[in-house]
Amino acid sequence: MRERWTQPTNMPKELQVDPQKIIFKTISVEDLSQIKKFDCDNDSISEFLIGEAFFSHLLREASTTLVFVGDQLAAFYTLQRLPLNFDVSQIEHLHDQHRMSLDLARLGVSKHFKSLGIGSYIVKHIIDLAIKTNERFITLDALYESWTWYQELGFNYTIEKEIVNPNASDGLVNMILELYDEKFINEFFDE
Ligand SMILES: CC(C)(COP(=O)(O)OP(=O)(O)OC[C@H]1O[C@@H](n2cnc3c(N)ncnc32)[C@H](O)[C@@H]1OP(=O)(O)O)[C@@H](O)C(=O)NCCC(=O)NCCS
Repeated sequence: MRERWTQPTNMPKELQVDPQKIIFKTISVEDLSQIKKFDCDNDSISEFLIGEAFFSHLLREASTTLVFVGDQLAAFYTLQRLPLNFDVSQIEHLHDQHRMSLDLARLGVSKHFKSLGIGSYIVKHIIDLAIKTNERFITLDALYESWTWYQELGFNYTIEKEIVNPNASDGLVNMILELYDEKFINEFFDE
């Protein structure tokens, strides 16, 4: 019996800003002046937004969404589609469309907007989006220091050595959330 990757989503932090002020906007050329100043306290993630995200978006490799609070750029996330990177032979009822995952390639919250629940709110938004588009798996590579934050949001690590040894995969932890709830489905058909 394989391990299940379905877990409830908790919010590590409740949203501290008015949700009506949060605007999700597809990246566009008019945002470049705000993008250039973005700093989420992680150079690699900030530099991706500043230097690569728009081009990657135009090429349809990975799509970036900017998250504004009012007129301030508060965060961004980047999504791509990836083939599943684990042995799928034990997965029951695996439809062809589910051999790919929705991969959260980048997530960054500006240092001016941290600890306000915005990161949690965005992950919840992505989970809702994945449900609406029939995704079965959401995957991501978390920075080692953030993996427990994603765990609280319902994600599971897939490779134990990555959480035991922070350097096992260059400081990254592969994580997955499965949206297909077999227990719920079995209960539904039993009734
Ligand atoms: C990780 C990140 C996205 C979180 O965004 P955020 O908007 O600050 O997150 P939230 O406000 O929703 O949640 C923060 C809360 O989660 C909890 N938390 C923080 N780190 C945690 C961790 N490693 N494990 C469990 N809970 C954690 C804390 O309660 C924290 O609140 P506090 O600072 O008041 O103590 C943001 O800090 C960031 O952009 N970091 C740099 C880039 C990065 O790490 N990206 C994600 C990895 S790919």
